[in-house]
Amino acid sequence: MRVLGLESSCDETAAAIVDDGTLVRSDVVASQHEVHARYGGVVPELASRAHILNVVPVVQAALERAGSTLDDIDGIAVTNAPGLVGALLVGLQTAKALAWVTGKPLVGVHHLHGHLSAIYLEPDPPPHPHLALIVSGGHTSLVRVDGHGDVSELGATRDDAAGEAFDKGAKLLGLGYPGGMVIDTLAQTGNPKAVELPRSMTGAETGWDFSFSGLKTALLHHVRAHGTPEGQALSDLCASYQAAIVEVLVRKTRRAARREGLHHVQICGGVAANSGLRTAMTAAGVEDDFRVYVPKPARCTDNAAMIAAAGYHRLVRGERDGLGLDASPSSPLSRRAEERAGER
Ligand code: KG4
Ligand code: ZN
Repeated sequence: MRVLGLESSCDETAAAIVDDGTLVRSDVVASQHEVHARYGGVVPELASRAHILNVVPVVQAALERAGSTLDDIDGIAVTNAPGLVGALLVGLQTAKALAWVTGKPLVGVHHLHGHLSAIYLEPDPPPHPHLALIVSGGHTSLVRVDGHGDVSELGATRDDAAGEAFDKGAKLLGLGYPGGMVIDTLAQTGNPKAVELPRSMTGAETGWDFSFSGLKTALLHHVRAHGTPEGQALSDLCASYQAAIVEVLVRKTRRAARREGLHHVQICGGVAANSGLRTAMTAAGVEDDFRVYVPKPARCTDNAAMIAAAGYHRLVRGERDGLGLDASPSSPLSRRAEERAGER
């Protein structure tokens, strides 16, 4: 089954053609980072306008690169939640128009189900059940994955997401937007023990939730007290800041893997591209006997191949959305695991 995927939930306009939820025929991403960089974060109205300009050329490029036409497509999958609603609507309206003129089936995809599906585009994906750590610019969640689309959220961030912590930290240090990649690069030559920063909510009594806003405030206090560093001191501060985020993510993930008795762990979302996180999680897996799976860096950040992969599984289950499908700025990934347990 050949699926056209569309993604426009934030600041990437993306389209992709994927066969059978695994084989990527084309994967086109038009990033808007240049549009937003001068503001230090995504400006929703500018994002919507850039999506309008980009969406048709991006879909055309995806079809051309796949050597495909709309006639060859068996279904259309589009991110409809969560995200910036004006941005989501551009991809959604395009997908609906294409579904209407071609008569092909349409399914909406939850953006985080998309991130969870990026790993199935890799040659050796994890089996079910497995544990997933979703770390993106807008979300941080620990999730048990029992099957395609069958997920239970164990915990999530109570305030800033991990990617948001990277972005806000980078903004504070004058490193531009998006900040994750810049901090990652500088951290590689820095000393992670140079500056003491808090590791919040790591005690067993804090469950599976995360909090990163205190770390950002600690960085602010450090910069106020010592000024914005340069050269080696900047690399040291970036390494220390990154280590504080990574340590919390790894500690909670390994505890959750142990409790759930899971030996396969995937990391996905933009922050999964972080080299420090990849290395630390892999080392934890060696110690605790779980295998770590991470999509290639370009499939950690937003793309439409992951949306096509997630949509494929909805389509093969026979699920369809009508042209009344709506966009939603927020949408739960799943019911909380405890709620499900309570129903059993
Ligand atoms: O998944 P994504 O593309 O968009 C959302 O769904 O939010 O994630 C974007 C986030 C940004 O916060 C960005 O700074 C972060 O992923 N990111 C990274 C790295 N590459 C992207 N964070 C840490 N290290 C990286 N190498
Ligand atoms: Zn994302």
